[in-house]
Amino acid sequence: LNNGVGRTPPMGWNTWNTFGCNINETLIRQTADALVSNGMRDLGYQYVVVDDCWFDPNRDSAGNLQANLSRFPSGMKALGDYLHARGLKFGLYQGPLDKTCAQYFGSYPGATGSLNHEVQDARQFAAWGVDYLKYDWCSPSGTIDDQVRTFAKMRDALAATGRPILYSINPNSIHSKTGPQRNWGDVANIWRTTEDITNAWNTGQTNGYPMGIQNIVNVNAPLSGYAAPGQFNDPDMMVVGRGGMNDTEMRSHFALWAIMAAPLIAGNDVRNMDNATATIMKNQHLIAINQDTLGLQATQISNDGTRRILAKRLSNGDVAVALFNQGGSTTTISTTAAAIGLSGNSFNLLDAWTNSVTATTGAISASVPAHGTVVFRVSGGTPGPTPSPSTTRIQGAGSG
Ligand code: GLA
Repeated sequence: LNNGVGRTPPMGWNTWNTFGCNINETLIRQTADALVSNGMRDLGYQYVVVDDCWFDPNRDSAGNLQANLSRFPSGMKALGDYLHARGLKFGLYQGPLDKTCAQYFGSYPGATGSLNHEVQDARQFAAWGVDYLKYDWCSPSGTIDDQVRTFAKMRDALAATGRPILYSINPNSIHSKTGPQRNWGDVANIWRTTEDITNAWNTGQTNGYPMGIQNIVNVNAPLSGYAAPGQFNDPDMMVVGRGGMNDTEMRSHFALWAIMAAPLIAGNDVRNMDNATATIMKNQHLIAINQDTLGLQATQISNDGTRRILAKRLSNGDVAVALFNQGGSTTTISTTAAAIGLSGNSFNLLDAWTNSVTATTGAISASVPAHGTVVFRVSGGTPGPTPSPSTTRIQGAGSG
């Protein structure tokens, strides 16, 4: 979406994965302070997104959305001010139909979705200083065309406010999987491609609830043709630091999200992080690969079921390559500079995890532990033409 924001994938934090409906302004303020003091804001984690359950179950007599004042006694404008004063940006959640997802499932009262209130709600968000709207279709009904029409209404209402607001949509909650079959770049800045993530490696789901890391990569990796500055596939918020996986798997999760140009939205409690979690989420080589201004998602070079190789062209002519071991034991994964689009006969491989640099005449190879991902930033070669994103539907995506 060409609205001036989201030219690289958004980075930040979201309440949902750790706190669900159990949110309040103290939590948000403490998290904002933590993002500043632990250095994450300065690494790019800017958007603080308040997910479902922030609002009063009823609109006011003029039909305006209002904050749940027992959770947010200072109101949403004050919360936005608090974030802005700290160099952060303000994200809020809402649904395009009559209910948000928590309301749909009955875990939160009311029915205050934006249906037929799009213009009024967009103005309200802008007045509160909102910088990011997560707009979540939570219904088993509706065709892709219904979704396009409805999501576009809010796109246009946000544009009409004159405030640049990053537009994040979810066409995939408890819905037949429309996301992977459509490039939503004409409608939104980021769009969910899968059902909800959970902190597990593999739940056995192909695109049902809940998805593990391996399951999500299977769906999202083939969709690289959709990504460009202002429009990115969203394989959901991260679960780094949420348990349920070993450190190798957590590193793979972060490395794969980074190279797939996914939004890097932390979902853990950043007020209390162990060193392993902080080290993963603060990896500057991977953040630079993710935030590269060309805005490309890594293309899939090969996938034999065990060894998956992804490569992402970068703005300075380097190419980042991920060697992902999907198998259960250590294996060697190999490719070449030529296979990832670089010509020449001497290259440097910067290992994004160990920070070490090795020289090569073209071979790119590593021993990769079970469920591990080695990422090299390959420099020194001459890149081929810059790939351009496709605008057509990708047939069969999601079966990967
Ligand atoms: C859906 C979304 C989640 C979260 C919840 C909130 O499940 O996919 O990311 O926003 O709704 O209820």
